[in-house]
Amino acid sequence: MQWWRDAVVYQVYVRSFSDSDGDGVGDLEGIRSRLGYLELLGVDALSLTPFCTSPMVDHGYDVADPRAVDPVFGDLDTFDALVADAHRHGLRVTIILVPNHTSNEHEWFRAALESAPGSPERARYHFQPGRGTDGSTPPNDWTSEFGGPAWTRVQDPDGGAGEWYLHLFAPEQPDLNWTNPEVWADLEKTLRFWLDRGVDGFRIDVAHGMCKPADLTGSAPEVRFDHDDVHDVHRMIRAVLDHYPGRMIVGEISVGDDARFARYVRPDELHLGFHLRLARAPFEADAVRAAIEGSLAAVAAVEATPTWTLSSHDVPRPVTRYGGGPAGVARARAMALVGLALPGAVHLYNGEELGLPDAELPDAVRQDPVRDRSGPTRPGRDGCRVPLPWEGGPPGYGFTDGDPWLPMPDAYGRLTVAEQLEDTTSTLSLIRRALELRKTHPAFTGRGIEWYGAPDGCLAFRRDGSTLVCALNASAEPVPLPPGDVLLTSGPLVDGDLPPDTAAWLV
Ligand code: NOJ
Repeated sequence: MQWWRDAVVYQVYVRSFSDSDGDGVGDLEGIRSRLGYLELLGVDALSLTPFCTSPMVDHGYDVADPRAVDPVFGDLDTFDALVADAHRHGLRVTIILVPNHTSNEHEWFRAALESAPGSPERARYHFQPGRGTDGSTPPNDWTSEFGGPAWTRVQDPDGGAGEWYLHLFAPEQPDLNWTNPEVWADLEKTLRFWLDRGVDGFRIDVAHGMCKPADLTGSAPEVRFDHDDVHDVHRMIRAVLDHYPGRMIVGEISVGDDARFARYVRPDELHLGFHLRLARAPFEADAVRAAIEGSLAAVAAVEATPTWTLSSHDVPRPVTRYGGGPAGVARARAMALVGLALPGAVHLYNGEELGLPDAELPDAVRQDPVRDRSGPTRPGRDGCRVPLPWEGGPPGYGFTDGDPWLPMPDAYGRLTVAEQLEDTTSTLSLIRRALELRKTHPAFTGRGIEWYGAPDGCLAFRRDGSTLVCALNASAEPVPLPPGDVLLTSGPLVDGDLPPDTAAWLV
């Protein structure tokens, strides 16, 4: 059963969703207590960010044990109870796996540090001697995604300056060597471990990573990601999943080229490809249309299902990205209707349904390693990771009885779930209605779209074989609506026209 083909998957940033024990950090029990809300919202599945044992340098994306729950988030019994309860609420549960790297506190990496160059323990990672007579220059010039060099030098067990190891992210996230069969065997064990516990699928972190060129010395070309061999890994993952009917894998694929992207969602690889093409488009009709066209053409070439997303824990929230303030909110609401009108799967990031802006945070409380590693030339991703406001006021807004791990802004008081549930004009009410229509209205059919002519700065499309039309006005002037009966608008119409920063669904 291919439930994911038109699913709305809700990404739970576990740390920031709901805290059950007052330590200021969200946890699995907290999610369990909010399943009624997620059912009411109308999503089909959850995607949980990493909750396995981790020193939390990259908030769980540095995994020390991929088959154990970190105590800050709960334990395996709570996880099992969460899956069972979610299924009772009609919600599927998917989890995020991180196969490109481990934590530096993973037992494999500790063993590697205690072992000699050339040992089997080191062969699970990418250890290389440095360049120069004393080996003090990294093996090649690769940079880390978080800033700075992608190599860190270790001390040998005898105390002398030793080899370097590769980390495309933080130094605490050493890259695994995917030519080593032990690495695959361990991932297979992890896949089966969670599949046997009843998870409905996985999101693969850095799905375009994993494989590296054979030669990592100074002469190596700049091919840090999207190496051709990675497709064999995805085929192996898919072969395991195919033994578990109804389970799904989506890859996070940061590959800008549409044709290269499409290779990941060929029939024997990932079911879905998550990329941020739409999220990266500015609020301009031409850019939005180009992102949609490129994405649709890429998946059509391999007969795959498109996946749409406007936000994640890695990018500023739509409200902020589109300019902030009332215009930012209006644009984010309009773009939500565009994404939800398209054929395929949609990923919503928690808080998107509340129209949250990024929080402005003082430097002293920021925690994302990107900030320090980049110089700091980048602020880091904390602003979109601030906990969700559920009800009431500071400091915890119902998220926690303690102090939230990142301070929650005063502006969140007007944006709590409790406030928005009572207000029929709220962003939460809009998204609930949109999800309900998407699920129940017969016009949401067809696997492609047809573009309509639209005034400058606007776009309009119709779902194939259906009467559903979505129109977006990203210009500065009101425009007439396309013909049809209005089903839903992201904001009020003005004298029957579609005002700026607004979208409408018509049938
Ligand atoms: C992508 C994840 O979304 C991001 O949060 C993380 O920092 C990197 N991968 C490294 O795992």
